[in-house]
Amino acid sequence: NGTMRVNEKGHLEIGGCDSLDLAREFGTPLYVLDEMCFRESCRDYYHSFTQSYGAEVIYAGKTLLNLAVCRMVEEEGLGLDVVSGGELFTALKAGFPAERIYFHGNNKSYAELAMALEAEVGFFMVDNLCELELLNSLAEKAGKKATVILRVTPGIEAHTHSYIRTGQIDSKFGLVIENGQAMAAVKRALELKKIDFKGLHCHIGSQIFELESYSHTVEVMMAFANKVFEETGCHVKVLDLGGGLGVYYVEGDQPRPVKDYAAVTMKAVLEKAAEYNFPAPKIIVEPGRSISGPAGTTLYTVGAIKDIPGIRKYLAVDGGMGDNPRLALYQARYEACLAGKVKQQPSELVSVAGKCCESGDMLIWDIELPSAETGDILAVSCTGAYNYSMAMNYNRLPRPAMVLVRGGGAELITRRESYEDLVSHDLIPERLR
Ligand code: LLP
Repeated sequence: NGTMRVNEKGHLEIGGCDSLDLAREFGTPLYVLDEMCFRESCRDYYHSFTQSYGAEVIYAGKTLLNLAVCRMVEEEGLGLDVVSGGELFTALKAGFPAERIYFHGNNKSYAELAMALEAEVGFFMVDNLCELELLNSLAEKAGKKATVILRVTPGIEAHTHSYIRTGQIDSKFGLVIENGQAMAAVKRALELKKIDFKGLHCHIGSQIFELESYSHTVEVMMAFANKVFEETGCHVKVLDLGGGLGVYYVEGDQPRPVKDYAAVTMKAVLEKAAEYNFPAPKIIVEPGRSISGPAGTTLYTVGAIKDIPGIRKYLAVDGGMGDNPRLALYQARYEACLAGKVKQQPSELVSVAGKCCESGDMLIWDIELPSAETGDILAVSCTGAYNYSMAMNYNRLPRPAMVLVRGGGAELITRRESYEDLVSHDLIPERLR
């Protein structure tokens, strides 16, 4: 993917950088972000949705957010979906234009809402009635008006892991259409003086390959938009369909082209608008994984190798669930290679373990690799999304560094945590000194 290839030394090269050099220079574990791959995905979305249909693309920051990523997203003309005060702070710190920031989250705090009002973010994606009332009163106090999109649950079950499925009725997210809660919220939003109701939002899940899930979602959402018009006389001006397009992790994953995703979605929108005879709402999509995922690769150093004859051979690496908890959480699967032995044929079946104190700390079960030795560099692909952003310090492992590579140059965009960083928030009460 992107600018990944095998160089003349037979090493994996990312963005023109030899991955063994990257490992030597920056240490491992190391997240490597391929700038052109990231930007090309942004451009693909911008072209397919914005230039072709006038739709808005907002990058889902929860997949990977730091100052450099905010800068790239901004330069590529995308908006930004943030879900917490921390993500909002990051975006503002990077100078991301507030009017292109969309504030999500099912339980935004008083402080977070106040912060977003103060910053004058473009849209509040309101998840529930409590938030709607709170936002109205905070806006009143601040002497501002909040532009609101209401999140509803369309009752669609995308075929994906249950933890990352979000559109079904029994969900902590959004207002249910079927039982009237969504309509009641629309009516309340229209009543509230400091709320400017603009439209509806939904998100049916993540790692989705079936584009029909999207056209089906459009049908449900447009039917509801029509009902909103019939009952309130108000047109839904904005329809945000969330993110979710799947990426390639392992054999069998068949990502759909962004332009097909756009075509299927927009065709359904235009057909339904014609059928209901109202102006097509402005469409927003919120891709995350399909932009940041394929742009990321994690480099690890192979340490202990343990062969249990007839059972399994474990390669332990210097990272694991701390930097990539996705196997532990979702049984996620990944492909990997030995970065210095890319041209060698696979010769053994191994499993890649992390270094945390629990058996569930695995990165890959059963992968064919060339014969590995301690010191080899293992590159796990497609780790740009939901890896760094879900990284943790279990066992007091410092979180790795991230480098941005492009045209043979590599720059640090997130420093590796130090042991000092790990204790920097700790305090010793007087009586324990
Ligand atoms: N919009 C909303 C409202 C979302 O909840 C999400 C993801 C997205 C957009 C972006 O979806 P994407 O294009 O990345 O699929 N941690 C899990 C995935 C959780 C998805 C959360 N919401 C994982 O590692 O698979």
